[in-house]
Amino acid sequence: MKVTVVGAGAVGATCADNIARKELCTELVLLDIKEGLAEGKAQDMMQTAALLGFDTKIVGCTNDYAKTGGSNVVVITSGIPRKPGMTREELIGTNAGIVKEVCENILKYSPYAIIIVISNPMDTMTYLALQSTGIPKNRIIGMGGTLDSARFKYQLSTHLGCSPADLNAVVIGGHGDTTMIPLIHHATWNSAPVSDFLSAQQQQQVVNDTMVGGATLTKLIGTSAWYAPGAAGAALVESILRDEKKLFIA
Ligand code: LAC
Repeated sequence: MKVTVVGAGAVGATCADNIARKELCTELVLLDIKEGLAEGKAQDMMQTAALLGFDTKIVGCTNDYAKTGGSNVVVITSGIPRKPGMTREELIGTNAGIVKEVCENILKYSPYAIIIVISNPMDTMTYLALQSTGIPKNRIIGMGGTLDSARFKYQLSTHLGCSPADLNAVVIGGHGDTTMIPLIHHATWNSAPVSDFLSAQQQQQVVNDTMVGGATLTKLIGTSAWYAPGAAGAALVESILRDEKKLFIA
């Protein structure tokens, strides 16, 4: 199996790191437009292979799409991240052209690839990828719901004092500060509704904190988050390549 991650910034590199550590594919290509960046990060990651014990071969390249040829899954993280105070939607002018061009280049060399879109504004970029490529919709997936649901579980776990892995909780709607809908009334802790343990006020707090999860991190860090977004992308790659039959709400 072969995977390509386009964009070797923080999100792309983290996604690639997770994919390699889990040995989800034999070859992993990291591509960036910035000269040397992907090559350098790929080499840095390869130098962890002996320490972490993985056999995935990571290849970095500068805008050389021929190297991505024959990829089964492609993760697109290209574009600029938001700065504190910005909405994801404000990135559309810059990122739309980038994502469209990346999709065209990818499909030239991997016409059957499944594409996972992480670039923001994620919902719009996913739809743009679908419209501009014309490939079937089951081959273009946005990773927002996977990330937002993971953040929802994190917020719930801090109030419940439990493991996020024991929770069943999903976020629907858009991947936006005001558009996502954490389904608190359907959230359960090992089948028990979370309302058995949390007051109405605590539940509202969890919902509010989940919705601004990305913005909170952008304010703290000074740029967009990357660990959870990268891991969410890798979780989708894992589910596809291992055919796990998992249900992610996009
Ligand atoms: C976030 C960005 C990746 O939510 O949208 O952290």
